[in-house]
Amino acid sequence: MAVIAQKCPDIKVTVVDINPQRIAAWNDDDLNNLPIYEPGLKEVVAEARGRNLFFSTDIDAAIDAAEMIFISVNTPTKTYGVGKGMAADLKYVELCARQIARVAKTSKIVVEKSTLPVRTAQSIRTILTAEGNGVNFQVLSNPEFLAEGTAVADLHKPDRVLIGGDQDVEGQKAVQALVDIYARWVDRDSIITTNVWSSELSKLAANAILAQRVSSINALSALCEKSGADVDEIAHAIGRDSRIGSKFLKASVGFGGSCFQKDILNLVYIARNYGLTEVADYWEQVIIMNDYQKRRFAANIVKSLFNTVSGKKIALLGWAFKKDTNDTRESAAIYVADYLLNEQAEIWVYDPKVEAEQIYADLDYLNSRSEEENRRLVKVVQTPYEAMHEAHAVAVLTEWDEFKTYDWQKAYENMKKPAFVFDGRNVLNSAELKELGFIYEGIGK
Ligand code: UDX
Repeated sequence: MAVIAQKCPDIKVTVVDINPQRIAAWNDDDLNNLPIYEPGLKEVVAEARGRNLFFSTDIDAAIDAAEMIFISVNTPTKTYGVGKGMAADLKYVELCARQIARVAKTSKIVVEKSTLPVRTAQSIRTILTAEGNGVNFQVLSNPEFLAEGTAVADLHKPDRVLIGGDQDVEGQKAVQALVDIYARWVDRDSIITTNVWSSELSKLAANAILAQRVSSINALSALCEKSGADVDEIAHAIGRDSRIGSKFLKASVGFGGSCFQKDILNLVYIARNYGLTEVADYWEQVIIMNDYQKRRFAANIVKSLFNTVSGKKIALLGWAFKKDTNDTRESAAIYVADYLLNEQAEIWVYDPKVEAEQIYADLDYLNSRSEEENRRLVKVVQTPYEAMHEAHAVAVLTEWDEFKTYDWQKAYENMKKPAFVFDGRNVLNSAELKELGFIYEGIGK
């Protein structure tokens, strides 16, 4: 929304949320206090806020004034009832639709921005029509393809913008209204228009196929470790095939983030609902492989440390699900830490952007042990050297650039010997570390 406001100074964009603290943070004079860390975001907010970009808790007033409304609420995986652990929870989307229907007195275009299961637009439309005051609603699907850490750049120069709408005249008019907004800064060629269902399914499909690439290379990484092949060399060699391409072939401790797992589970759930068991099993395997990769990494730490980490200090570098974000949702670090804690390790975490509170909340959420125990066994520190001091092993879980430039000599001197490094992102200079005396283990090496 901030980028739309930046690119269209004549359009008034109001972002509303029921959470007053969040809105206050978006309105904070100090742009370092914005609720989301994302490179380039504070510059965009600085330019547009107060001009045509506003943040407010007055949801009814914003609905009343708007011609177009984007529903951008959370759609987490259901944690209860039918579809628990798989289906998307549409509670917040439904609440939004009901509120829009109740308040709207003039025609509106309602845009699904949240990632939603296929045919959700139909439910939104049904609620709007049934609850509404007879005003005309058009429902569009406009899935978000930005990746965290590069969100602003992705929005400024998207590979494509996808807009799905009804195929009748009114539907096409609504589609055109949204096309006209994006066309202010995106090539018309890169704006794809489809029917609503194709647009909804494309988002799930794009994430499923991206995640599948990561799971594919991670599956090969396990084979490399057994056979003596090097996964980076394989990724390079196959990535040069223009039909395959080089992106999303970086072997890792496992993918995380708010989208991949959730969207694939969603796809699996939908396929099962349609009775497509083989299709569901096929996509589910991407998740099974990812869980295996996280577990395999943690198990390898235990095995290398002479089959026990009980009472041993292990430093985790990185907690975010990838670099340049403070988002930790589904981060591999959470599961690796949990595994090591079950083995009675003492965990010291350093991440340049993630707060201690978040790390404890992530572990508490798993319910593996009491909150007191998580706080007793896990220390979150402000410098990497504190984390590594007297540690038996260091595990790199996020590919933050700064990890490459640490004084590894100093780290080595202060660690217990033999000093192990488990590089879950293959980002460190293995030759240099081995030279210093470390026992270095990467992924797929
Ligand atoms: C993803 C999609 O890329 C984006 O289009 C969609 O809108 C939201 O979901 P995001 O979750 O921000 O974006 O991160 P992404 O860059 O896709 O990475 C996802 C996970 O895969 C991260 O944990 C990342 O570290 C991991 N990954 C990615 C790898 O392990 N190897 C790779 O080669 C690429």
